[in-house]
Amino acid sequence: MNWDSDIIKNLAWSDTINNREEKQKVADEIAKKVKEGDVIGIGSGSTSYLALLAIAKKVKQEKLNIKAIPTSIEIALTCTELGIPLTTLYELRPDWLFDGADEVDPKHSLIKGRGGAMFKEKLMIMSSPINYILVDKSKLVNKLGSNFPVPIEVFPQALLQVEFQLKQLGVSELKLRPAKGKDGPVITENGNLILDARFDEIGDDLEKKIKSITGVIESGLFIDHHIEVIVA
Ligand code: A5P
Repeated sequence: MNWDSDIIKNLAWSDTINNREEKQKVADEIAKKVKEGDVIGIGSGSTSYLALLAIAKKVKQEKLNIKAIPTSIEIALTCTELGIPLTTLYELRPDWLFDGADEVDPKHSLIKGRGGAMFKEKLMIMSSPINYILVDKSKLVNKLGSNFPVPIEVFPQALLQVEFQLKQLGVSELKLRPAKGKDGPVITENGNLILDARFDEIGDDLEKKIKSITGVIESGLFIDHHIEVIVA
């Protein structure tokens, strides 16, 4: 039986999409890679959203059967709206994945997590053999941390111990991310908090050092991961 849901029918991207034309170019580029039977990991954020729309168009035109593994509720709902069947990491491994990023450095290390989805995004990248990162030129930086802080998802009761440990790692600024549409802090889809952390230097070992703090679920640092960057 069909839900006939108005919520699904009325879904729209919640914010303005910056650099939309460039994002659309990479979205159209990634849609060309879709083949019959693909299981695709779907990242979050506005670039991933546009890519998903472009993929849905191709799937409809060419009557392809694909399955999606989403990294956020927003993307899961959009797949439902577009008629793209969802699956999970329990059932299938993605053949490939696409996602956006907030910063990409010359060695293709990334900062992600402006949208708070970095835990499932990293889980998906670790699960998928082929990973495309779609960015417009505004995301290219010489040095990670130039424009964005490093988001860190934290188990709520560990907040102050994580703060203490991050200070030992030399964090220069630390903010608890506030929610929009709710009083107090952002609560992630996993029931955790997000700290936005600035560091004067982001060394190659910082991702591992942050991850080793008890109470840290994941960070938005993706240093030296197996990815291919597509720039509009
Ligand atoms: C989501 O948590 C993020 O990692 C996004 O992938 C990243 O912020 C890129 O977002 P845009 O595509 O909206 O710029």
